[in-house]
Amino acid sequence: MERKKITVPKIVRMKRKGKRIVMVSTYDFPFARLADEAGVDIILVGDTLGMVVLGYETTLPVTMDEMIIHVKAVNRAKPKALVVADMPFMSFQASVRDAIANAGRMIKEGGADAVKIEGGRCVASTARAIVESKVPVMGHIGLTPQAVRVFGGYRVQGKTENARSALIEDARALQEAGCFAIVLEAIPWPLAKQITEEVEVPTIGIGAGPFCDGQVLVSHDLLGLYEDQPRYVRRYADLASIIRQAFSSYASDVRNGDYPRIEESYEDPEDHKNH
Ligand code: KIV
Repeated sequence: MERKKITVPKIVRMKRKGKRIVMVSTYDFPFARLADEAGVDIILVGDTLGMVVLGYETTLPVTMDEMIIHVKAVNRAKPKALVVADMPFMSFQASVRDAIANAGRMIKEGGADAVKIEGGRCVASTARAIVESKVPVMGHIGLTPQAVRVFGGYRVQGKTENARSALIEDARALQEAGCFAIVLEAIPWPLAKQITEEVEVPTIGIGAGPFCDGQVLVSHDLLGLYEDQPRYVRRYADLASIIRQAFSSYASDVRNGDYPRIEESYEDPEDHKNH
């Protein structure tokens, strides 16, 4: 049976029904198609795009135009999964007007179903304004990589009692602002558990332990495309080795004349059968 398109209300209902939510960050047509065929609930076109696909050192340089190209590519896979587009650095911070316009671009040009913004209480009024313009918003608190310059690195958050209370307040403020789900990144599991119990909207963890309502990983991490990964990543494949090996076999076959063979070539220009 073909599965139905996943909607924002369905994601919210999943928490009430105790069904865990599977989210993955992907950035292009083939990976979105494969993740969707595997039945993930949410595809996030994350601004991690900048680091894992475009080769930037942080997510900070990612632009709206770069995001739109990748959101469109993901949407061409016609996923049944909910497609959430990440709002890149400075696409929503400067003014509410910019935030609404850029969130609108993600929906109108990119074809996304929802957007994600980083930050807690400081972005709650922006989140509310975007929601009121009829664009569903996912929140993101804890280690918010767009604040890497403020944090001074990628560090686990919620170390002091004050920081823990602030994160709980952030989650409440985002729920109050109308966010339909909240990503909790790099938060100790007891705090992630407490937040998950205190808010009605689903929490989606990354480096936040087993008690969130769902989990997100970057597809390139779980597939093993990069060797250097944080401890919370579980690798389900070692694609880096497989791909390196395939390129290397291809190179040696070309160099030693084994590829291409006659049966891998056309003899008759009219023979289209085996294109
Ligand atoms: O950009 C991203 O992929 C993300 C997830 C890691 C939550 O924000």
